[in-house]
Amino acid sequence: MGSFHLTSLFAALLASITTAHPSPSKPTNLTWTLSPTNSTRQFRGLSPVSDKIVWVSGTAGTVLRTTNGGSSWSNVSPSLFPDNATTFEFRDIQAYSAKTAVILSIGEGNASRIYLTRDGGKSWKPTFINQEPTAFYDCMAFENESHGLAMSDPVDGKFRLIETWNGGASWAIVNSTGMPSALTGEFAFAASGTCIEAAAGRWYIASGGVDPGRIFRSTNGHHWKVTNSSITGGAAAGVFSVRFRDATHGIAVGGDYEKPAGNVNISSWSDDGGATWTASESFPAGYRSGVAWVPVREKTAVAVGTSGSDVTFDGGRKWQRIDNGTFDAVECVGRHTCWASGSRGRVARLVLL
Ligand SMILES: *[C@@H]1O[C@H](CO)[C@@H](O)[C@H](O)[C@H]1NC(C)=O
Ligand SMILES: *[C@@H]1O[C@H](CO)[C@@H](O)[C@H](O)[C@H]1NC(C)=O
Ligand SMILES: *[C@@H]1O[C@H](CO)[C@@H](O)[C@H](O)[C@H]1NC(C)=O
Ligand SMILES: *[C@@H]1O[C@H](CO)[C@@H](O)[C@H](O)[C@H]1NC(C)=O
Ligand SMILES: *[C@@H]1O[C@H](CO)[C@@H](O)[C@H](O)[C@H]1NC(C)=O
Ligand SMILES: *[C@@H]1O[C@H](CO)[C@@H](O)[C@H](O)[C@H]1NC(C)=O
Ligand SMILES: *[C@@H]1O[C@H](CO)[C@@H](O)[C@H](O)[C@H]1NC(C)=O
Ligand SMILES: *[C@@H]1O[C@H](CO)[C@@H](O)[C@H](O)[C@H]1NC(C)=O
Ligand SMILES: *[C@@H]1O[C@H](CO)[C@@H](O)[C@H](O)[C@H]1NC(C)=O
Repeated sequence: MGSFHLTSLFAALLASITTAHPSPSKPTNLTWTLSPTNSTRQFRGLSPVSDKIVWVSGTAGTVLRTTNGGSSWSNVSPSLFPDNATTFEFRDIQAYSAKTAVILSIGEGNASRIYLTRDGGKSWKPTFINQEPTAFYDCMAFENESHGLAMSDPVDGKFRLIETWNGGASWAIVNSTGMPSALTGEFAFAASGTCIEAAAGRWYIASGGVDPGRIFRSTNGHHWKVTNSSITGGAAAGVFSVRFRDATHGIAVGGDYEKPAGNVNISSWSDDGGATWTASESFPAGYRSGVAWVPVREKTAVAVGTSGSDVTFDGGRKWQRIDNGTFDAVECVGRHTCWASGSRGRVARLVLL
């Protein structure tokens, strides 16, 4: 026992000597700093614009915004009179400044809506109200300040897309001819606003409900191809989030939200623009609903879920746990700052220096 202790002490000493000179590419302090919001809502919508400006959106019609890096948060929720705003759930948000943001409300029929503000949330204008009874919008993505797509679970057997060319001020249904058929039971998860992704002029969709979950890809948002991910799917399982850092390198995460600690076949990576997906060598510590690349740290990404968060330094091959707190969404901004948001009003920042 004694010698075992000495050996492990020696090993710990060796480890501390080696980590005293970390590779400059690896940050040393991977600690989330909570930013109190004074809210108890669940924020699955998250959109940092800069180190200072961050928007979150979520349950009970709530939208919050900070313009001072999280020192204080303002309630900028829409008043949707004559509709009861507290019945809306804004699962996704895309902001472009302290003034301009687009929010997506999920739900059956006309509960699926999009609103736009250009005055920092003082007023919100409805720019899309779904009229198709079988549509259910999950998430949206923008490739720049004008061009975006929002995605619904299958309508007539295909994922439904609507498109904007004016920053969300108006939307039109995309002709579904170029969309492959969905499989029976296939749908997407409105968990973190990242079931659709725009990166480097390309578009991606993450699905579940089928095993394995699938990943769709497109170079124009109209003509799509689909491939199996390596992520196990099921009634509550599949790919929850797909992100690319350029036209070729992607990461997908997911799992089963009813098994938050399940940690096998829950993440994969692609080096060919999403044509093929390979399972990670070591997985995140549990079901993960969101993943984001760290902008200036090539191959570094952060994943979050209800049972904690993880980081990869090798483009998704290996993951290591950094925290056990619950989050739903993660987005990185600027050079090396990531934000996460989730239930009980939790919002936090991680600086990967
Ligand atoms: C790590 O970062 C956290 C949050 O920013 C901070 O509170 C803590 O002091 C840092 N620890 C070290 C060892 O630098
Ligand atoms: C929380 O609310 C209190 C009282 O209304 C206020 O003083 C404080 O600044 C708020 N905190 C944040 C982070 O907004
Ligand atoms: C709005 O809906 C919430 C939740 O269903 C309910 O508690 C509240 O009383 C409603 N408010 C109005 C003004 O109808
Ligand atoms: C939404 O649907 C409800 C119930 O079908 C209807 O009463 C309401 O007028 C609709 N609202 C809009 C804005 O379409
Ligand atoms: C956004 O991207 C589209 C498609 O690549 C392009 O046509 C448009 O000019 C871009 N708009 C802006 C504001 O960059
Ligand atoms: C969709 O595109 C196809 C092929 O171009 C065309 O035949 C069809 O009429 C279009 N549908 C609608 C609703 O515009
Ligand atoms: C994708 O997965 C399904 C279900 O396991 C399987 O039937 C199908 O052959 C797979 N497709 C490819 C291209 O591997
Ligand atoms: C994970 O995926 C591998 C490769 O497809 C498969 O062999 C293995 O059975 C899967 N494990 C579980 C627990 O689903
Ligand atoms: C998270 O929980 C696991 C299992 O309880 C524990 O081993 C680990 O040290 C915790 N990690 C952090 C970063 O708190």
